Amino acid sequence: MSDVQEKKPITTSKLRQMKQNKEPITMLTAYDYPSAKLAEEAGIDILLVGDSLGMVVLGYESTVSVTMDDMVHHTKAVTRAAKTAFVVADMPFLTCHGSVEEAIHHAGRLIQEGNAKAVKIEGGEEILPIVKRCTKAGIPVMGHLGLTPQSVHQLGGYKVQGKDLESAKQLITDAKALEEAGAFGIVLECVPAEVTAKVAEAVEIPVIGIGAGVQCDGQVLVFHDVLSYASNLTPKFVKSYAQIGDMIQSAISQYVIEVRSRQFPEQRHSFAASEETIQQLYGEEVRV
Ligand code: KIV
Repeated sequence: MSDVQEKKPITTSKLRQMKQNKEPITMLTAYDYPSAKLAEEAGIDILLVGDSLGMVVLGYESTVSVTMDDMVHHTKAVTRAAKTAFVVADMPFLTCHGSVEEAIHHAGRLIQEGNAKAVKIEGGEEILPIVKRCTKAGIPVMGHLGLTPQSVHQLGGYKVQGKDLESAKQLITDAKALEEAGAFGIVLECVPAEVTAKVAEAVEIPVIGIGAGVQCDGQVLVFHDVLSYASNLTPKFVKSYAQIGDMIQSAISQYVIEVRSRQFPEQRHSFAASEETIQQLYGEEVRV
């Protein structure tokens, strides 16, 4: 039996226990069946179907163009591959800024149609009623504080958050409020490491950082950044563990060369007809 078969499915209580045991939680985005399968087999604890898919998979400028239908479609593909990893799906732009009923309806689609285990919602105080309602309805919610990409236009770009005392304290207040409202975890993005440490200390739920230093309960990165897979942005906090974009491109270039020069396909890649069929087809003609 392989490690993956033996591993028990990750749950929200397991994640909280990992924080208590100071066992770092691993989280990575995934947007389709193969990326989720590979990450799952590598032992990732949480797979995030992030709305970053708008940029890295769909080619948009930001995450604001991503729709609920996009999220459901990609979440379905990821959950088909996830056997033990805990799948969290992002609530896309504006799905949490109408009524609580609308938000519940959207969250319900990610769980019922997408088969996600939980949803992630960007924001602090303003989303508390939705967090409470979702949690009450049995939908686990992960918060997202610090740099919240859906507010990129309001924030004036992808900037580090919580640099001054007031905004650092606000992050701590928001994290506590999210915990109290029932969130099972928080993603903290682009925040100074010293501030992250205080946020993580202030709550019992896991705080997963991205560009937030090492002193939190786990780390999350974007799949395409980790693998240098046609990703144009390389934020300072990203570590690239492989150059698969270059590998893919040089493999495809070689394919193009071989097709153009008729090196591919070779004899061994072709199927053969029977001698009799060939005889009748070609007669005395020269065969290809
Ligand atoms: O959408 C996403 O990929 C995210 C991560 C950056 C945490 O929210």
